[in-house]
Formats: sequence, structure tokens, C-alpha cells
Amino acid sequence: MIDSDAPQALAGLAMLTADTRNRVTAVIDKTIALSPYGGIADAPCSPSCPDYSLLDHVNDVVRTGELLGRMAGESWGLDVDWDSLVAILLLHDLDKLLMAGLSERATAVQSSDLELPHGVLGAFLLRDAGFSPLVVNTVAMHSVMSPVHGSSNEAFILHYADLFAADHSRRTSDIVPFYQIAQYARRDVDGSVAYRETGPSQPAAEGSRRVE
Ligand SMILES: [Fe+2]
Ligand SMILES: [Fe+2]
Repeated sequence: MIDSDAPQALAGLAMLTADTRNRVTAVIDKTIALSPYGGIADAPCSPSCPDYSLLDHVNDVVRTGELLGRMAGESWGLDVDWDSLVAILLLHDLDKLLMAGLSERATAVQSSDLELPHGVLGAFLLRDAGFSPLVVNTVAMHSVMSPVHGSSNEAFILHYADLFAADHSRRTSDIVPFYQIAQYARRDVDGSVAYRETGPSQPAAEGSRRVE
């Protein structure tokens, strides 16, 4: 179960309405039960940054997203649905608990068989849990590899909060951050996705698969 008072607790839960908070904690608990992990702190955020847990990443994304949302509202007048935004920030990587390849213990989804894009499985879980189309669709399309991205203010804020947090983990793991990669993904004409990483301290390499 999620303990919001624990030192390693999820950020942002207190910002949610009681109904959304209950829905968020219930879907996380349900997904943890389906996963090989005992909690979000046990799951890695990415195979390339094994010391950066999913809990660390989610908390970084929630805190960054809160700052960006406040700035965008106060300086640019952007309208933000805070209950939806915080739920999106908290749940955007929910399916990482179930995706194979992040851990040898993760067997719930064999990506080599399904090639299931990151975000899609999370969106299914959130739809079944009764979340709004804004939350479901934003999570479904949030990956940098998604061919389509949401146009809402909440999707805009999630994108930059997510990449900011991901780049922090890459910089502290001696991996070239996305902002220094000249071209980190391309979709070939046949629809397949190739990855190319180039940066000041890392030679070009193709074929590495990653989810953010
Ligand atoms: Fe993600
Ligand atoms: Fe993320």
C-alpha cells in the first residue's frame, strides 16, 4: 500500500481531490500487485539508469511539473486543470512497473513479443480505473517515441517536466542527456523506429531501445 507519510512517499498526493487521490493510489496499488516489485521505489526508471528509481523519477516529475504549471499560469495565463495535471504527472510511467526489459524480474509484458509502446499499457490501466480522457490520452501519447502527442496544456507541461527529470538522471549516470543528443530518434519510412545517440562523451550507437 502507498503510505503518503513515509519518507519515500509520492509527491503531489496532497494536491489532489480526495476522489482523485483515492483513484490514483488504488490504480498504483493494483499495478504494483501485478508487477514483480514490492513498490515503486523497487522499480528502476530506466535500464540505463538503474540507481534512479521510478519513485525518484515520478517525484522529480511531479515537483518540476508543479513549478512549470504555476509559472505557465502566472506568467502566460495558461489554464491548468490541477487535479488532472497532478494525476498525469504521478501516473505517466505507471506501465514501467509491468514492462519487461527494465528488470530481469519483470515478466508481465514481454516486449519482444508484443512491441507494446510505452504509455499504452498505462493508458489501459487508467481507463479501466475510470480516469478522464485527458488523463488517459495524455499518458498514452506522452512518450517521446509516440507519433502523436496531446495538445493540452497538461500534456505540454508533462513533456518538459518528464524530460527535465530524465536528463537529470542521465547526467548523474554519465549518460548523454537528451538535450545534448543531436538526434535521438527517427521513424524510418517503413514505420520502424531507430535510435541514434550522439553526444560529446558518447559515440554514435544505433539500436538501443529506451522509454521515457
Ligand atoms: Fe514515460
Ligand atoms: Fe517519465
